[in-house]
Amino acid sequence: MSSTQTREIGIIMNGVSGRMGYRQHLVRSILAIRDQGGIVLSDGSRVTVRPLLVGRNEQKLAEIAAEHGIEDYTTDLDAALADPMWEIYADFLVTKARATAIRKAIAAGKAIYTEKPTAESLEEALELASLAKAAGIKTGVVHDKLYLPGLQKLKRLIDSGFFGRILSVRGEFGYWVFEGDWQPAQRPSWNYRTEDGGGIISDMFPHWNYVLENLFGEVKSVYAQAAVHIADRWDENGEHYNATAEDAAYGIFEIEGGIVAEINSSWTVRVNRDELVEFQVDGTHGSAVVGLFGCKIQPRNATPKPVWNPDLEDTRDYDADWQQVPTNDVFLNGFRQQWEEYLESYVLGTDYAFDLLAGARGVQFAEAGLSSSAEGRKIVLNPLSLA
Ligand SMILES: NC(=O)c1ccc[n+]([C@@H]2O[C@H](COP(=O)([O-])OP(=O)(O)OC[C@H]3O[C@@H](n4cnc5c(N)ncnc54)[C@H](O)[C@@H]3O)[C@@H](O)[C@H]2O)c1
Repeated sequence: MSSTQTREIGIIMNGVSGRMGYRQHLVRSILAIRDQGGIVLSDGSRVTVRPLLVGRNEQKLAEIAAEHGIEDYTTDLDAALADPMWEIYADFLVTKARATAIRKAIAAGKAIYTEKPTAESLEEALELASLAKAAGIKTGVVHDKLYLPGLQKLKRLIDSGFFGRILSVRGEFGYWVFEGDWQPAQRPSWNYRTEDGGGIISDMFPHWNYVLENLFGEVKSVYAQAAVHIADRWDENGEHYNATAEDAAYGIFEIEGGIVAEINSSWTVRVNRDELVEFQVDGTHGSAVVGLFGCKIQPRNATPKPVWNPDLEDTRDYDADWQQVPTNDVFLNGFRQQWEEYLESYVLGTDYAFDLLAGARGVQFAEAGLSSSAEGRKIVLNPLSLA
């Protein structure tokens, strides 16, 4: 193919009617790439994308296709997998349905791109990673939080040596999710049922694993306390159900080099921070607080010297001791940026770090969180590898 030609890559997109599938993967990523005429790879070649919408409800698929000028949609996943025109299988289904679909896609020889968690158990996540490795298939797993502007600023601070020796990481994630009775809930009800693959640990811990391992180092152990704080919830149809899955998890994680991370994840907390997720990182030479977008720092030579005195009201404005880090870059939507990197790696055949084995580490981390909470003890993580 000459470098002036554009290679079109057919992508099976399963679960595009869902929250993540529709907004982040279809509209913000694949259609955005298609509508700008594709992407230019590092070797100078150009590729573009052609989505095939897959789901269970033909009417919904037809509506999405019509709205966005998409030619291809089907309710027949097997037929889609059998057609060599579609090279990549992308999965945004509810977690419970994922492994079965990915197994089929691997058997059909498709490259894989998937939401996290990659499976409901570590055993299954490793099985998928091994099957893909044996089939020589390129795999990718969503690592979207790493692409948040705030976390990219944090990465730059780490790489610049700003922190000195990093001591600890404190993360607060969460917001109030309505119970669904007098105001509809803003998350799907399956999130609150263990039997349907729900729970904040399986939802958020895979994110924390890749954030920690990519920014700070390998995670050595997990201690977590899970809670079902609100047992009565109401679903999409206004029907009452018993929430069986944890809606909050309080975790402490040991990272290589002696760094201690403490991350609270909660759908039962009212926000009293600047953003829905915030991480404070303290190091010998400086500290930073980052969110989705923001990043503020306090170097050691501008650190105040508080003295504990309960008899005197402390009037110091501690917020004013922090300095904002400017936004010196233009940041793409994180899901789209990762899609572009994955497509480049797929086409050029380069190594891709955020693969199904990385996804399995996220599942291992979540599974350890659940075991730790159930057994009341710290779980040491064994390094994973594929046969
Ligand atoms: N990366 C992130 O930030 C992020 C955020 C939220 C959710 N997620 C992940 O994305 C996935 C989807 O979550 P969501 O919030 O979009 O859920 P959702 O309920 O909005 O969408 C789920 C999709 O799966 C389909 N589906 C449901 N049951 C099915 C079944 N039995 N068989 C086949 N298809 C089925 C639905 O029709 C829908 O298209 C989950 O695995 C979740 O963990 C990731």
